[in-house]
Amino acid sequence: MSENRFLVTGAQGCIGSWVIKKLLDMRQEVVAFDIDTRPARLSLLLALQELKGIRFVQGDINDLDQIGNLLDRWAVTHVIHLAGLQTPECRAQPISGAVVNVVGTLTVFEAAKRRRDQVKCVLYASSGAVLGSDESYRVHPIRDDAPRRPGTHYGVFKAAVEECARIYWQEEGIRSVGLRPPVVYGVGRDRGLTSGITLAIKAALLGRSCEIAFGGPANVEYAEDVADSFTSCALQAPEGARVYNMLGEVLTVEEMIGVIQELFPAAKGKITCAQRVNTMANDVSDAGLQELIGPFRALSFREGAQRTADLFRTLLEQGRL
Ligand SMILES: NC(=O)c1ccc[n+]([C@@H]2O[C@H](COP(=O)([O-])OP(=O)(O)OC[C@H]3O[C@@H](n4cnc5c(N)ncnc54)[C@H](O)[C@@H]3O)[C@@H](O)[C@H]2O)c1
Repeated sequence: MSENRFLVTGAQGCIGSWVIKKLLDMRQEVVAFDIDTRPARLSLLLALQELKGIRFVQGDINDLDQIGNLLDRWAVTHVIHLAGLQTPECRAQPISGAVVNVVGTLTVFEAAKRRRDQVKCVLYASSGAVLGSDESYRVHPIRDDAPRRPGTHYGVFKAAVEECARIYWQEEGIRSVGLRPPVVYGVGRDRGLTSGITLAIKAALLGRSCEIAFGGPANVEYAEDVADSFTSCALQAPEGARVYNMLGEVLTVEEMIGVIQELFPAAKGKITCAQRVNTMANDVSDAGLQELIGPFRALSFREGAQRTADLFRTLLEQGRL
C-alpha cells in the first residue's frame, strides 16, 4: 500500500465514484466522504466486496470540524474535492449553490490550511462553465488563462473558487489544482443538464426512447478519463494554484446520437435532442494539463460510448442496472 492517503469528497457522485475506483485500482488508501449514504453509482462500478472495503464517512462539506477531524484521523495527504451542486440546482437555488460550491470549497481549503505540513495538495472540480461561449474569445483554442466569462450562477461560483484557490496559494502556500471538466459521460452520470448523453446510451440498450436536453456541439469526456486526470494531478501535487481546461472530443449531440444508433441499430428514431444549444466553450486547449501529467489521448466519443454500452450491458445481465 502507498503512503498517500486520499480524502475524496462527493464520493457518491459520478466523478467521485470513478475517482474512488481509480484510486482503489492503484492500491491507494482512500476515505470517501459525501452527504449521501447511498452508493448508487459506486455500486455500478465496484464489486460488492470492494464496496464493503471502502472507508465511508457521511457528512456535510461545510462542517469544518468534521473535515478537519477526518484529515487528522486518517492522516490525509491529498484531498480530491468533488462535492457540489450542479447547474440546474444552482439556477433554482443560488443561495444553496453558493453555500455548497463556494463556502464548501473554502471549508476544504481552511481545513487543509490548518494542516499544511500534512496535506500536500487540494484537487478540486472547477468546470468548463467558467468560460464563455466559443464566439466570445478571439484567440483559439482557448487557453487556461483566458478570461473567465461564466454565463450561469454555477459558473460564477466555480470562477470564485478558482480565485480563492489562488489566494490560498498566495497567502498560505496551499498547493491546489482546479480541473475544468467539460460534459462528462459514462456509467454513473445520471444528474445534471448534460447527463442526457449517458441516459440515451442506457435507453438505447433498454429499447426505450430518450430526448437529450440540448443539441449542437459539445466537448465530451469519458468519466474514467476525467478520473485519471484528477488522480494524476493529485499525485503530481505541483506548486501554485493551477487551473486546467480539459478536452475530450468535440462533436455535435446529433453526431453522438448517430454513434449511439450505430451501436444500437434498433434505437434509430428513438433518441432525439432538443434545439437548445449548450453555451459552454468547446474549443479549449488542454496543453497545460498534458504538460503536467504527461501526454495522453482521451477516448473518442465512439470508444467511450462503446465502453459505456458494454458496462451497462454487463450490469443488465447481472441484474444490477
Ligand atoms: N459531471 C460533469 O459533467 C461536470 C462537469 C464539470 C464540473 N463538474 C463538477 O465536478 C464535481 C463532481 O461532479 P459529478 O458529476 O460527480 O456530480 P454529482 O452530482 O454526481 O456528485 C456530487 C456529489 O456531491 C455530494 N454533495 C452535494 N452536496 C454536498 C454537501 N453539502 N456535502 C457533502 N457532499 C455533498 C452529492 O451527494 C453527490 O454525491 C462537481 O463539483 C461538479 O460541479 C462536473
